[in-house]
Amino acid sequence: MRFDGQTILITGASSGIGTGYAQEFARRGANLILVARSGDRLGTLASQLHERHGITAEPISTDLAVPDATAGLLELIGRAGHHVDGVVNNAGFGDNGDVATADPHRLSSMVTLNCTALVELTRATLPRMVANRRGVVVNVASTAAFQPVPTMAVYAATKAFVLSFTEALWDEVRGTGVRVVAICPGATDTPFFTAANATSTRIAARPKRSVEQVVATTFRGLEQDRPSIVDGGLNTVLATGSRFSPRRLAMTIARAVVAKR
Ligand SMILES: NC(=O)c1ccc[n+]([C@@H]2O[C@H](COP(=O)([O-])OP(=O)(O)OC[C@H]3O[C@@H](n4cnc5c(N)ncnc54)[C@H](OP(=O)(O)O)[C@@H]3O)[C@@H](O)[C@H]2O)c1
Repeated sequence: MRFDGQTILITGASSGIGTGYAQEFARRGANLILVARSGDRLGTLASQLHERHGITAEPISTDLAVPDATAGLLELIGRAGHHVDGVVNNAGFGDNGDVATADPHRLSSMVTLNCTALVELTRATLPRMVANRRGVVVNVASTAAFQPVPTMAVYAATKAFVLSFTEALWDEVRGTGVRVVAICPGATDTPFFTAANATSTRIAARPKRSVEQVVATTFRGLEQDRPSIVDGGLNTVLATGSRFSPRRLAMTIARAVVAKR
């Protein structure tokens, strides 16, 4: 799959899996719009990718957890004369702890970033893709999408939303030439666990998959035109098990996995 001359918008490109997507789309010839809050990191990445692959990469520093931030972002993109041919909704964060004691603002920011911004960017960019009969929508879900996760309740619920939304979207655009996939990574080696206050959990101590593996699985999902794909064989077995287990059992196991060591 090549993207020469096409422009791909990637959210959360300043770190982890998003940086991996930026590197791979640039390698495949795409021009990039890189979005996150850390403008300096985006700027450095944009220069590196331009030098290495000869593509153009525009860094845009935006906080997508602020309500209506996507409207400002889309206006900036339009004013700069960019047309978006594909979107990678990757920006997201989690938070470890009980709902009753969580910072309410942090919970609503999580929903805004993980769900609302993802839907808004998909809705805004899709019509051009359908009209052109080509394009990609990559939405980053998680294996947390397959069962409720006590102590990461809101995070898991946002990822269940992403998975359900994306699979339905895949069906809606069938036959239009647009490829849609939800990628469900399990524990992956990125700063995610630090951002989620979850470094002392059991899952954070387990061996993790690499960003490169998650990115490769995503492209396999796109190439095979799958509505969703889980990264890694063991994660696939566990996600399938969760899906078909009694809900209370799946929840008990999930709680143990994210429990503090
Ligand atoms: N790592 C895992 O184990 C794992 C597993 C399953 C799913 N995921 C999902 O993978 C995606 C990427 O996470 P990661 O593992 O690569 O973690 P990460 O390294 O912490 O990256 C998160 C990215 O999201 C951006 N971001 C966070 N808050 C933002 C905001 N308010 N506005 C704009 N951008 C924001 C961050 O950039 P700034 O801080 O510069 O804004 C960063 O680029 C997330 O959706 C996550 O839920 C991760």
